[in-house]
Amino acid sequence: MAVFEVTIEETGEVYRCSADESLLNGMERLGKRGIPVGCRCGGCGVCKVRIGQGDYQKRVMSREHVTPDEEASGVVLACRVRPLSDIRLSVIGCMKKKLCAPSAAHAAENI
Ligand code: FES
Repeated sequence: MAVFEVTIEETGEVYRCSADESLLNGMERLGKRGIPVGCRCGGCGVCKVRIGQGDYQKRVMSREHVTPDEEASGVVLACRVRPLSDIRLSVIGCMKKKLCAPSAAHAAENI
């Protein structure tokens, strides 16, 4: 099975994700606190991201969380998308707040 690299634009982190797993599964392996994982089936909307670059295969997502216009601009639910190439993505919504919050160490530097 092909394995691709996924880059998170905001943090510069890169993780590997195979073509038979979701972008969210791969992201979870970063082991980073704050990665919001909810239903894992496209229903809760916590794993919303915008794909900036790369090819992917998507499955049905709740229209409550991703409108047709958003989907047309690359917005997807990471639990419903599998990579078909290397991917660059931006975290948005709930995930952005959690993933991009300053770390405790960084916060301590600013005291
Ligand atoms: S984890 Fe619920 S929509 Fe992705």
